Amino acid sequence: MSGSCLGLRKACFLLSVSAAALLLLLLPRGQPPAAPRRRPPPAAGPSGPPLQRAGPGGSGVHGTRAGSRGEPSGALGGRGRGLSGSPQPVLKSRLGPAGGSARESLELKDIFIAVKTTRKYHKSRLDLLLQTWISQARGQTFIFTDWEDRELRLKAGDHMINTNCSAVHTRQALCCKMSVEYDKFLESGQKWFCHVDDDNYVNPRTLLRLLSAFSHSQDVYVGRPSLDHPIEAADHVQSDGSTTVKFWFATGGAGFCISRGLALKMSPWASLGNFISTAERVRLPDDCTIGYIIEGLLEVKLLHSPLFHSHLENLQRLQGESVLQQVTLSYGDPENKHNVVSVGGVFGLQQDPTRFKSVHCLLYPDTIWCPAKKSHNS
Ligand SMILES: *[C@@H]1O[C@H](CO)[C@@H](O)[C@H](O)[C@H]1NC(C)=O
Repeated sequence: MSGSCLGLRKACFLLSVSAAALLLLLLPRGQPPAAPRRRPPPAAGPSGPPLQRAGPGGSGVHGTRAGSRGEPSGALGGRGRGLSGSPQPVLKSRLGPAGGSARESLELKDIFIAVKTTRKYHKSRLDLLLQTWISQARGQTFIFTDWEDRELRLKAGDHMINTNCSAVHTRQALCCKMSVEYDKFLESGQKWFCHVDDDNYVNPRTLLRLLSAFSHSQDVYVGRPSLDHPIEAADHVQSDGSTTVKFWFATGGAGFCISRGLALKMSPWASLGNFISTAERVRLPDDCTIGYIIEGLLEVKLLHSPLFHSHLENLQRLQGESVLQQVTLSYGDPENKHNVVSVGGVFGLQQDPTRFKSVHCLLYPDTIWCPAKKSHNS
């Protein structure tokens, strides 16, 4: 007595067969753990083919082993101490629309940006950042510091995180902060972890463009080395320290990013205080320890990008339009205050010694404190 189907047995039968077929087709997709073969155990060997380039055009990123050893294919630029930032490769390596196969639709809210600071820079450095780039990325930026500052709390709310780490500038204290940054990122569920210092300007648009070339589930570690060679350290983790391990690391002062997929694999050495003990065992600073875990232990290569900049570089070589195409910028410390990027036409050096305000007004001319009519000058 099955109502509607009574007269149409055949059609009904065919229909249910095709419905069953459809179900069969759909089923395997609904079960994510069906094919877990791409996940090697944490400590074991190479994890899948490490991404070398974002796509044919590149994305401002160069695979380590891709270039010849002597000249790091423009990624590092200068010898010595990462002077460089030669704008040429930067301009050429803008992301083309073609992009890589891994292209995913990424939004700013998918990125967790950790800014590392300390109490003495809350006023002199953080205020400038809050006024400029952080205002464009408030939702995803977290400030990691070492002091419960009421004024900063008022401005940043729960986006200020008191790590309770010591305020001294020692390896231990810095590793303590990195450890908290890492844990907070894992907790956040966001797709990308980016670490910057409190003297970095982050261009949210170019950051998004850079990361959009990859998938967050792949193993991605991108940033700028401060040396033109890998460092070599005694390996106290995998051996008793009698052997050495060679690896590249992205300098923390220029900022770097790590995909969630890779961050999860780092967990045995990085989460819940393990980062501090890993750093202790290899006796390395925070950013080196990150490189050690990723390149040395997980065997994933750093993607060298010329789009990140630290105060150790000759920043004056970054000029005009290309300044606006970088992912991070920085400025020289007080002893080196002429080491700033060259942008003209918005504020003078007196008003804007770091050049961050000028850069910000060129990127976001509608900002309330920017001159109403930007004079064109580049
Ligand atoms: C730092 O200490 C305060 C007070 O004990 C606590 O509420 C906060 O969660 C701690 N911060 C971290 C990152 O553990």
